[in-house]
Amino acid sequence: IPTLILWAVLGYLFGSIPFGLVITRMLGLGDLREIGSGNIGATNVLRTGNKPAALATLLLDAGKGAIAVLTARAVIGEDAAQIAGLMALTGHCFPVWLEFRGGKGVATFLGLILALSWPVGLACCLTWAVVAALGRISSLAALAAAASVTLWVLLLTDGAMLVLGLVLTALVFSRHRENIARLREGTEPRIGSRG
Ligand code: G3P
Repeated sequence: IPTLILWAVLGYLFGSIPFGLVITRMLGLGDLREIGSGNIGATNVLRTGNKPAALATLLLDAGKGAIAVLTARAVIGEDAAQIAGLMALTGHCFPVWLEFRGGKGVATFLGLILALSWPVGLACCLTWAVVAALGRISSLAALAAAASVTLWVLLLTDGAMLVLGLVLTALVFSRHRENIARLREGTEPRIGSRG
């Protein structure tokens, strides 16, 4: 048990690195929290107009979720991998460095789920891509991908990730409350628009 707590802490600390903020500050693109939705994720970095910065944010935020899982799995095993992944997502959403006001967790969710089970991760990424291609709205694609994880876990695995999947869905949805309100009003901006 102490080992699992250690991996929870390590996962949290790694996940709490706000790459979107770091990258946009390094490039002098302004304070991300005063641009667009104010979120620290890749979708909002794209609103600065800098596509490479948005791509780097996406890859690094996804990468930290994946690396947390893969490291914990290599050193300890599957339980630690699930905990480290969940805590990396928690760290991204509630980073101690930003007074617990972090991101919405989509990239980190996709990264950690790809590392936990690549078929489930791939299915979630495809769900994101299909909904994004049809609707051109990042949050809608994210909500669809997060909601679909349970289905993919049931269809593509032995079900050992079911509880984790439900927790991930709930966490990503809870971070999108403002987006859900805008989606219902029909005011949610399309991908790439300055919103
Ligand atoms: O990746 C987060 C996305 O789902 C929504 O981002 O900036 O449009 O609130 P944003």
